[in-house]
Amino acid sequence: MSTITVKPARSLKGEIALPGDKSISHRALFISSLAKGQTTIEGFPESTDCLSTLKALLSLGIEIKREGERVLVSGKGKDGFHPPSEIIDCGNSGTTMRLLSGIAAGLPFKTVLTGDQSLRRRPMARIAEPLRLMGATVLTQPNGLPPVTIIGGSLSGIEYRMPIASAQVKSCLLFAGLFASGTTTIVEPIPTRDHTERMLSYFGGSLKYFFAGEEKKISLEGGQRLTGQKIKIPGDFSAASYFMAAAALVSEGEILIKNVGINPTRTAFLRTLVKMGARIQIQNQREEGGEPVGDILVKGGGGLKGITVFGSLIPNLIDEIPLLAVVGLFAQGKTEVKDAAELRVKESDRIASIVTELRKMGARIEEREDGFVLFGPQKLQGTRVHSHFDHRIAMSLAVAGLAAFGETVIEEPDCVAISFPQFFHTLNTVSCVK
Ligand code: S3P
Repeated sequence: MSTITVKPARSLKGEIALPGDKSISHRALFISSLAKGQTTIEGFPESTDCLSTLKALLSLGIEIKREGERVLVSGKGKDGFHPPSEIIDCGNSGTTMRLLSGIAAGLPFKTVLTGDQSLRRRPMARIAEPLRLMGATVLTQPNGLPPVTIIGGSLSGIEYRMPIASAQVKSCLLFAGLFASGTTTIVEPIPTRDHTERMLSYFGGSLKYFFAGEEKKISLEGGQRLTGQKIKIPGDFSAASYFMAAAALVSEGEILIKNVGINPTRTAFLRTLVKMGARIQIQNQREEGGEPVGDILVKGGGGLKGITVFGSLIPNLIDEIPLLAVVGLFAQGKTEVKDAAELRVKESDRIASIVTELRKMGARIEEREDGFVLFGPQKLQGTRVHSHFDHRIAMSLAVAGLAAFGETVIEEPDCVAISFPQFFHTLNTVSCVK
């Protein structure tokens, strides 16, 4: 079994650059494949999830060249896709499976998508049902689990109100809508990350929006033409969050995280940390490729207070919630997360994983069906913990280890490669050991 040891840190100091945003990179590959003409993607990450998307598109006949962090995609619109000669393995990547299903639903042949053990436990009925309503044949296991078999063809636009707040489902249906006759309208009762909408517009797509309170309606016409572009992927905000939290938890220290995507539908964790008392500034704010980007400066040492997070905020910090449990343990008073049952169907059951592992370090934290509650501040004791083969759990435990007493040994840490292969190296370059 592979392990890594994390030592307590006195401070975090320095400047770091992050891998390209995982969500945006997936979309850059999908949308450039759907477009006509050449797209150049700069800042493409080594993330194994993004490589799953790249390989899947190669299996479907898309011409893609990868030269380090630059990826060149020669899109031919719908005509660029050919029947795959084998089952497509989406690895650990839910984004690959769900977004690709939307495209496969528009293609007049059979595509079969599978994944690793974790992905084969994740629900796919949420995409299968609306894609069937649009006219595709979509088969899953009887319980809605992968493999997913899709026989695409002639789709018709639908109006679909999403019962679950999921950017993956929304993006899947927007992609299918590009192939459909007529208008596809997605109603989002709670807004989720909007990278797909932004990137479709950046590639020349036309989308219409209608807002009523928190509800967002997105409509697009089928058959529209997208055109290849030059696109630079911003640094991954979710990757930045571990350094923001670590810098806020350990005393002193100052860390500058350069070129981070700061799309407001992704940055609720930053706003939450600030509300808790962390000293964080965004500098050099600008727009690149249709996405807001900035540098994030975090200063350590502000006393933190607990917070309750629930409702419509949840989708905007969904991937940072395990990390919020770690931060909450060092904050004064109650920290509570509600309405986050979606965490149970991520790469691992993230509520159970983080609660189990933090308890091994001595944390008193109550597990709830849709979140957790804890009272801080508490002291954590380094010990052996397990990643549950989930990158976000491994990185959250590393932050816990930095702020704990004694050494923390993380079992199976290699899963960080899913989104951030250089995570432990980057952490080493900025942490000043006690
Ligand atoms: C993602 C959306 C989120 C997130 C996942 C990536 C995306 O999932 O948890 O890591 O790129 O669209 P859901 O939209 O299913 O909640």
